[in-house]
Amino acid sequence: QGAYPLVVLSNRLPVDHEVNPDGSDAWRTSPGGLVTALEPLMQASDGAWIGWPGVADRSFDPFEKDGISIIPVRLSALELEQFYEGFSNDTLWPLYHDVIAPPSYHREWWDSYVSVNRRFAERAAAAAAPGATVWVHDYQLQLVPRMLREARPDLLIGFFNHIPFPPYGIYAQLPWRKQILDGLLGADLIGFQRVADAGNFSGAVRRLLGYPTRGVAIDVPDTDGSRRVIAKHFPISIDAASYEALARRPDIQERARQIREDLGNPKTIMLGVDRLDYTKGIGHRIKAFGELLEEGSLNVEDVTLVQVASPSRERVGTYMALRDEIELAVGRLNGDYSTISHTAISYHHHGYPREEMVALYLAADVMLVTALRDGMNLVAKEYVAVRFDGDGVLVLSEFAGAADELKQAILINPHDIDGVKAAILRAIAMPRTERTRRMRALRRKVFDNDVAAWSASFLRTLTEGAVVRAGIP
Ligand code: G6P
Repeated sequence: QGAYPLVVLSNRLPVDHEVNPDGSDAWRTSPGGLVTALEPLMQASDGAWIGWPGVADRSFDPFEKDGISIIPVRLSALELEQFYEGFSNDTLWPLYHDVIAPPSYHREWWDSYVSVNRRFAERAAAAAAPGATVWVHDYQLQLVPRMLREARPDLLIGFFNHIPFPPYGIYAQLPWRKQILDGLLGADLIGFQRVADAGNFSGAVRRLLGYPTRGVAIDVPDTDGSRRVIAKHFPISIDAASYEALARRPDIQERARQIREDLGNPKTIMLGVDRLDYTKGIGHRIKAFGELLEEGSLNVEDVTLVQVASPSRERVGTYMALRDEIELAVGRLNGDYSTISHTAISYHHHGYPREEMVALYLAADVMLVTALRDGMNLVAKEYVAVRFDGDGVLVLSEFAGAADELKQAILINPHDIDGVKAAILRAIAMPRTERTRRMRALRRKVFDNDVAAWSASFLRTLTEGAVVRAGIP
C-alpha cells in the first residue's frame, strides 16, 4: 500500500521524455486535455500519474512535475511492438473503430497486453493509499481494473474509454472478448463517450457473460453475492477558456492574419486537423474537394484547404499505407489544380504548438471534421472554443462523438461524397447571421461542458456509487 489518495493511469504519461543537448533527461508537459483537467485536482489531493514515457527499454525513477508525482512504467522494445503497436493499435484500435482497417489477431500480442496491464496494475496497487480512488484511462489498459481489484479490494476504481465501444457483431470477433469485459468489470464505474458506446458495452456483457443489466447498472457476480457496476456515458471535453484566452492574444490574431496572407488571401480557408489516422476520413475530404475543383464549383484562387496531419504510430503497417495513400492524393490534386500563386492543399505532416493551432483555427472559415468513426473528436470543440468572434462554420461527421452535442454544426455522413460536397458549398456560402447563430449555440455547449465539468462529473458519480454501496444514506 502506498500514500497517494488519487492515482491516474494512462498508457502515455502527460509528460514527454526529451534528451537535453548534454545528454541528460528532460520532461516536457504535453498539452493534452486530460492533464489540464486533472492537474488542479491532482495538485490539491497529492495525486500520482502512472504511465509510459514514450521511449522503449528505459527505466526512470519516479519524479515530481508541476505538483504531480509521475511514476514511469518501463516498456521493452518487444512490448512496444506487441503491446502498443500490436494489440493496442493493430487489434483493438481498428476493431473498436468499426473495423475500418482489418484488425490483426495474434496470441503473442495478447500475452504481451496481459503482462503490461499487470505491470500497470502492480504499480497502482503499490502507489494507492488505503481506500484511494484510482482512475484508469483508455483501451490500452482494459485489464487493469480487475487485476487491481484482486490485489486491492479497498480501492474505488473508475475506468474511462476514450474511443468508441463497437456494436456486438463487431466486438464478438475478438478472441479474448470475455477476458476484456471481465477486466473492465473490475471497475466500479465504466465511462464511455456516447450513450451508444455504453449500450454496446452492456449488450456485450449480457450476451457474452449473461450478467443482468438494468439501465446503466450491471450486477456482477462476486464472492459475497453481487457487486453493482455502472456503465454510463460522460462525453469528454476541452479546457475551453484556455483556448479562448489564446485566441484573444493580439500576437496570435496577428499570426492568423499572416497565415491568410501567406496563403495568397483566398476568399475561403478550409482546415482539417487530425492525427494521420485512417479513422479520420482525410481521404474522403480530399476526394470531395477534388471533385468540386474538377467540376468548377470551386476555384483554386478562391479556396485553399489547409490539412495538418500529425505523425502517429508510424511503424504500424496500416498507418504507413495510409500515409502513402494520402500523400499520393494530395500530390495528385495539387498537380492537377494548383497554380504558381495558389496551392489547392497546403499539407503539413507535423504537429504544431497550441498557439499555432489556435491561429489556424482563427484563420479558418470552414473547419472540416470528416471522421469515419471517432470517440469524441476534440478538434471540433477546440475550433468552437477559439471562435469568440462568433464566426466560422463547422462541418462535422455524425460518426464523431462530438455530433451528439454539437448539433448546430453542418452534420455530414463522410461516406456520402455528394453530401460532403454539398456541405462544403453550403458552409462557404452561409450568410454571416446564420454563421453567428450557429456558432453561438455551439459555444454555449462547449463552454457549459468543459473538461473540468467532465472530470468532476465522473469522479462524483464514482464516489456517489461507493456511498450507495456502503449503505450510507
Ligand atoms: C487517442 C487515444 C489515446 C492516445 C492518443 C494518441 O486519442 O484515445 O489513448 O494516447 O490517441 O495516440 P498514441 O498512440 O500516440 O498514444
